[in-house]
Amino acid sequence: MQYEVVLPAAGSGKRMGAGQNKLFLLLENKPILIHTLEVFQNDEYCTGIWLAVKPEEREFIEKLIGQYGITKVKGLPDGGEERQHSVHSCIKEMEQVEIVLVHDAARPFITREIIASLVNRAMESGAAIAGVKAKDTMKKVRDGIIVETVDRESLWMIQTPQAFRFDLLAEAEDVAEKVGFLGTDEAMLVERLGHPVHIVEASYDNLKMTTKEDLVLGEAILRKRGFLV
Ligand code: C5P
Repeated sequence: MQYEVVLPAAGSGKRMGAGQNKLFLLLENKPILIHTLEVFQNDEYCTGIWLAVKPEEREFIEKLIGQYGITKVKGLPDGGEERQHSVHSCIKEMEQVEIVLVHDAARPFITREIIASLVNRAMESGAAIAGVKAKDTMKKVRDGIIVETVDRESLWMIQTPQAFRFDLLAEAEDVAEKVGFLGTDEAMLVERLGHPVHIVEASYDNLKMTTKEDLVLGEAILRKRGFLV
């Protein structure tokens, strides 16, 4: 059941329009990054945290980590141009472990129950990712005209965490780098190797803090969970 987690935290968060790394914005008076880190700090099965960071933000992040008593961080390598590069720089620094999770630092509402399901499935099958079923009617559109209504039953909205056997993800990342393939998630890299990737039904609460509206939703989720009065 043990695992280590890679948290890419080196984005610029342009869509948030905060003029700073969105992970430093506060939810319930605590940076989003700390909310995410605390989930893994408090999960007894997590044995190590790897954070990809911007070099100019490393000192500040190290200070935050100390201030909030996060003790599981094993390394803070430089992030890259794209999220995939940030993840890869962590994978390259890690020692071999059985299971590695990749989780957006910008998704602070992940639960230990979902993490445990993902780790279990990855131990059995090699690769398992979090997702939720599409709620709305889904249509393919070209030049403003509907081309097709897609069967919703087969459509999932994909989130993180994404859990893998370490050697499988490391190989997928290396191959992608070699051929210059850029995916929008880690599962795409593993799918390219022809390896099946399983889905674990997660939660609509597992939002990625992307725009200002997400901060309002985030406060509501915390309130629902009883963290705010
Ligand atoms: O921009 P977006 O919210 O999709 O990024 C998802 C996560 O990946 C964030 O936690 C962000 O900090 C991280 N990221 C990164 N390196 C990049 C781009 C994004 O670590 N080059």
